[in-house]
Amino acid sequence: MSKRFYITTAIDYVNGQPHLGHAYEKVVADVIARARRSLGEEVFLLTGLDEHGQKVQQAAAAEGKDPQTYCDQLAQDWKAFAEKLGLTNNDFVRTTEARHKEIVQASLAKVNAAGHIYKTTYEGFYSTKEETFLTEKDRRPDGTFDPAYGEVIKLKEDNYFFKLTEQQQWLIDYIESNPSFIQPDHRRNEILGFLRNNTLEDLCISRPKARLAWGIPIPFDTNYVTYVWFDALVNYITVPAAKGDSTISSALSSRPSTLDPRLSLWPADIHVIGKDIVKFHAVYWPIMLKALGLPLPKRLLVHGWWQKDGAKISKSTGNIVDPVTVINELGLDAFRFYVLRELDIGADGNWTDAGFKARYSAELANGLGNLVNRSLSMLKRYRNGVVPARSDELAPDANKVIAETKSLLEQNQLQSALQSIWSLITRANQYVDKTAPFKLAKDPAQAKRLDEVLYNLAETCRILAVLLWPFLPGTAAKINAQLGLNGEPDKFSAATWGGLTAGHQIGEPAPLFPRKDA
Ligand code: MSP
Repeated sequence: MSKRFYITTAIDYVNGQPHLGHAYEKVVADVIARARRSLGEEVFLLTGLDEHGQKVQQAAAAEGKDPQTYCDQLAQDWKAFAEKLGLTNNDFVRTTEARHKEIVQASLAKVNAAGHIYKTTYEGFYSTKEETFLTEKDRRPDGTFDPAYGEVIKLKEDNYFFKLTEQQQWLIDYIESNPSFIQPDHRRNEILGFLRNNTLEDLCISRPKARLAWGIPIPFDTNYVTYVWFDALVNYITVPAAKGDSTISSALSSRPSTLDPRLSLWPADIHVIGKDIVKFHAVYWPIMLKALGLPLPKRLLVHGWWQKDGAKISKSTGNIVDPVTVINELGLDAFRFYVLRELDIGADGNWTDAGFKARYSAELANGLGNLVNRSLSMLKRYRNGVVPARSDELAPDANKVIAETKSLLEQNQLQSALQSIWSLITRANQYVDKTAPFKLAKDPAQAKRLDEVLYNLAETCRILAVLLWPFLPGTAAKINAQLGLNGEPDKFSAATWGGLTAGHQIGEPAPLFPRKDA
């Protein structure tokens, strides 16, 4: 059984509705997953929800619901959202599922038996709002705590701690000798700087049940539940365990919940995460995995954060972008295109409605849409939609872009891949303007030249459909259908010049991106 390319997203907190930030991360992971499939790999894409913790307990109580009912209802919205984004996830994990609880408990039991967990009394400051213990280091120069922590109380409480301190040097060495583990590089340098200049404090991994009931009971002391990160991070191995991945099953002595087909998934190839949760993934998670006797994921791909109109996205101030509204208005592919084209993975972004509409109009409607529409309409009008004999005038341009796109996709350089693809669109639009097929059509002596131009344009459209498929799957499928081709353009190997054969009858051209008034 060969190992699949295993890619995950962060699992979102279920205490609200999804927004642009959540959507962006999921689309990035989906494009990478689709690209790898197109390039011939077997891929498993995982996304899901993080459902335990005080905030969910409080949000449920505020609505007069028990937490499970509250999560079950919201999970429907989030699953519908994943579909709305066109995600090709192979599973959807929820941390309240039995399969997850089982693996969290098995992990805690193993790590505890191996001596990585101890119980001690904590006495100090605690932020109820952020559900976190604070130390003197968290005080500001004037002695107060950041208002973001809300009310800070004094607390004395017994809890379980996961030992981190002893692992610090090993982790530094690991990150130094595996430069591609944390990408982009500036995030890797940040984590290395943090690890070199601070002493790691052991991680509190429990809350007394009396104070927080909504969590997974600690198997060796059921007066406690495990606290968020030991629960959330484990989702990445829950699904491999459920699918009978042998690396996970042998480390945790777990049995798969589905016997057929068994999959080989671990270690993950990519965890796609936002910049705010790098420390949890780059420090706690590797140490947890080492304690579990499991190999580390190959890569953390860290994306930046979106703002809207230069300000933080926030429900309370109403500064939000609702992806569903955007998608309903201008289509899923327009949304996917804007977020992927606007931001390189790692950089922060700023959504503006004007910027979104400008890209829609310039790059999608006037660029891609216009090229495909005029190419196929002319083929229809001048040759009854019958593909003429092969001609290779644009083949060198197409081949260059095909090679570039392939290499960029292999490096997860999605923005650059789109730029490369658009260079072919621009080239082909210029070719139309230069060769002026509408003029050639008026002169019977130019019939052969017109055939050549029409072939080059139709074949470029076909290649574009293949290159665009991971990014704009709906549009790519439409281009294929308008070309009268069967199936989805979902195999990169089809991006080879000369695929359209003479005599092939194309379908009906129709605008891909109807113009909307700004
Ligand atoms: N539940 C944790 C993650 C656990 S992963 C084992 C969590 N949830 S979250 O809902 O707050 O965030 C989920 C993901 O969305 C994170 O990767 C986060 O960085 C991302 N984003 C949330 N807001 C964002 C923006 N404004 N912009 C881009 N991504 C952002 O953290």
